[in-house]
Amino acid sequence: MAQIFERSSNALARASLVLTGLLVIALGVTLDELQRSPWVTRQGQRADQPVPFSHKHHVQGLGLQCQYCHVTVEKSSYAGIPPTKTCMNCHAQIWTNAQLLEPVRTSWASGQSLVWTKVHDLPDYVYFSHEIHVNKGLGCSSCHGRVDQMPLMYAQNTLQMEWCLDCHRNPAKNLRPTTETYNMAWEKPAEDRPVWCAVGDEKSGVPTAESVNCVTKDPSGAGAEMALLELPASSAKGPVADVAGAKLPVTLSYKKFTRQEDLGQFLVQHYKIRTPKDLTSCEVCHR
Ligand code: HEC
Ligand code: HEC
Ligand code: HEC
Ligand code: HEC
Ligand code: HEC
Repeated sequence: MAQIFERSSNALARASLVLTGLLVIALGVTLDELQRSPWVTRQGQRADQPVPFSHKHHVQGLGLQCQYCHVTVEKSSYAGIPPTKTCMNCHAQIWTNAQLLEPVRTSWASGQSLVWTKVHDLPDYVYFSHEIHVNKGLGCSSCHGRVDQMPLMYAQNTLQMEWCLDCHRNPAKNLRPTTETYNMAWEKPAEDRPVWCAVGDEKSGVPTAESVNCVTKDPSGAGAEMALLELPASSAKGPVADVAGAKLPVTLSYKKFTRQEDLGQFLVQHYKIRTPKDLTSCEVCHR
């Protein structure tokens, strides 16, 4: 009986097997890449919005603070998107005829909110809160980038799990003084850009982020800074009983930092940041 297959077909079959294998791998890699691609994460993309609102104009140009519009960012999980009223505080007088602002005026007249497309949107099974991040030494720009330079808003970061974990594994590399939360141009300390920090109420035993005092100008030059120290009730003994709970001025002793690593470690300690092990456990974000 004649051979149905030619001798070379063996090699062909083997080659096609290898080829299929490669294709499967390639498909897997592609899907994985796709899952991380800006197309899926929407990283870097400008969303379609009812009004081309420019953070660059309103923040950098007019000097508006983030909290003027995102009023709940320090005290709730949600940062908040401003109501039309906030825009009308100015736009009832400024640019009143601009075509661009027509949707704002219509919204104001009709009482129907503007519908903004979310740029950042975590899945429902992930818990996130602005409050803790903002009060523990992260700046808006740590996660959102240079918002003050964005004519149209886009997501600077993927918001994928590995992005969150990368910081939770070592928050020290990103921590800054809480006084710098809104400083879009904040850069980590360096030899020519030192930061000085002091702890106000170490003696009373309850350090909080607020009790850490950091400055970016040499505090020794302008004379020692004073802070108010609340005397704990336990120190009230005998004749000084009257001053328990009273606020006494104390001299702060400042430590100088020229490296992010050192500043970060200091802030981790005094902001009472949990260990990387605690911060990467699943229940932190999936409750
Ligand atoms: C004058 C009001 C105003 C000010 C001031 C303002 N924003 Fe906004 N912000 C908005 C509006 C309106 C939106 C929704 C439209 C958009 O996404 O551009 C928004 C959206 C955002 C978003 C994206 C929200 C989403 O959909 O995921 C971020 C992040 C943000 N702002 C950060 C900031 C930061 C940081 C500052 C300070 C540097 C700031 N904003 C100052 C009005 C403001
Ligand atoms: C503190 C006053 C103030 C507030 C609040 C304010 N704007 Fe403006 N807005 C201005 C001024 C001033 C300009 C003109 C800026 C320029 O051309 O330099 C402007 C310009 C604009 C423009 C024209 C495009 C541009 O950016 O130049 C749009 C659109 C706009 N604003 C939308 C909004 C929306 C939406 C809100 C509410 C979320 C808002 N503004 C809140 C003062 C304000
Ligand atoms: C640790 C990272 C991080 C920091 C720091 C941070 N954000 Fe966000 N922001 C996010 C994430 C993540 C979301 C998406 C939340 C969601 O979808 O539930 C978001 C969403 C927002 C939104 C859309 C409304 C909302 O709350 O979902 C605004 C506005 C915003 N951020 C403003 C700010 C401002 C202003 C600051 C600084 C005061 C800031 N963010 C600091 C990560 C951060
Ligand atoms: C740039 C650093 C950074 C990034 C990015 C970041 N976090 Fe955090 N996160 C922190 C720090 C610092 C804390 C405070 C930890 C503490 O106080 O022990 C924290 C705390 C938390 C907490 C604890 C809240 C509580 O009340 O216990 C949750 C939940 C959380 N982060 C979720 C997220 C999620 C989800 C993302 C990604 C979308 C994210 N974080 C991205 C630094 C970060
Ligand atoms: C710091 C916050 C954080 C911690 C801690 C965390 N996750 Fe997530 N996780 C996220 C975020 C954010 C997403 C959403 C990712 C996205 O939208 O692409 C996510 C998504 C997921 C998903 C959906 C599939 C995927 O990969 O997109 C699974 C499953 C998951 N997490 C499991 C876990 C497990 C298991 C742990 C503990 C080992 C854990 N996560 C710890 C933030 C966290």
